[in-house]
Amino acid sequence: MDDPIWHALPAGTRRTVDEHLAAGRHVHATKAIRDASPESPPGIPACMDVIADRMAELGLLPNGPTPLRAPADGAVAASAAEAYRASREIPIRGLAQWRTAIAAAAPMAPGRRVLDIGAGTGGFAAAFREWFGVHVVAVEPDDAMRRLIPRTTGIEVRDGRAEALPVPDACADAAWLGSVVHHLTDLAAAAAELRRALRPGAPVLVRNAFPGRSAGDIRVRFFPETAAAVEGYPTVEQVCEAFATAGFRRVSLASVPQQNDPTLAEYASRLRREADSKLRALTDAQYEAGLARLRAAVAEDPVQPATSWMDLLVLA
Ligand SMILES: C[S@@+](CC[C@H](N)C(=O)[O-])C[C@H]1O[C@@H](n2cnc3c(N)ncnc32)[C@H](O)[C@@H]1O
Repeated sequence: MDDPIWHALPAGTRRTVDEHLAAGRHVHATKAIRDASPESPPGIPACMDVIADRMAELGLLPNGPTPLRAPADGAVAASAAEAYRASREIPIRGLAQWRTAIAAAAPMAPGRRVLDIGAGTGGFAAAFREWFGVHVVAVEPDDAMRRLIPRTTGIEVRDGRAEALPVPDACADAAWLGSVVHHLTDLAAAAAELRRALRPGAPVLVRNAFPGRSAGDIRVRFFPETAAAVEGYPTVEQVCEAFATAGFRRVSLASVPQQNDPTLAEYASRLRREADSKLRALTDAQYEAGLARLRAAVAEDPVQPATSWMDLLVLA
């Protein structure tokens, strides 16, 4: 569940919320979320979004897994996926240092097979194909996101989740999890599935923000309150521990830069709050203050590159 309000709650509160939801006590669940949120209490509509997502995850919705606020015709989901592509996908030209880091960590060459787990709109799937000529199996549970993955030779698109991979045993030479580990409800189950799906010795490449390590994220530079959401993500140690249960060990951890856009001015013009749950979770005042910081930086140096840093954790 990609909701910073949920991730910011203490584990005990999350359990309490789940108990309230299971018992149908939605008002109590809302109050627990508001009382325990570390920042100012989120508004009721934001709490309802959290509750709808959580009920879907817990299988508590009366008509199956459709979230309460899901669009009847999928139009909103489709536009959210489009917004993700337009605003969050990093253009391939900005990923040169990621290309180098990935090539150093995994056997990337034509004939190799790479699992892209939680592939989103397929930005990295396309990059892997273009950079290395590998065969990519892009696994993505969200229909609207999956629909935008390029259908092209060398990219196979599958509906599925990390915890139950729709692939045969020992079929791949590497796995890529880009901004996905904080979405996984059961890291150990995902690790066990990756152990099954990968050939012996094949690496798992985790590209993510981790608690205590997000200062280089460009959003944190201008919207410092977004760091709070990352604090609720699994830590490097928690990911390593979960993967250790499936026999993986930590190989390396490095912070890698990317150019979100060639210039800060372009970054500012591409920024879309609705495409980013961390920006959506800010109060309007926090968001406006961040925009003012960003505009001031653009005015001072419009052509400075929009550089952002994320971690690459390699396990094998
Ligand atoms: C922030 S997006 C990242 C997309 C892409 N990897 C990227 O780097 O642009 C997270 C993706 O993980 C997917 N996701 C959520 N839960 C998942 C799960 N249990 N298994 C696999 N993917 C999941 C979401 O649908 C979403 O597309």
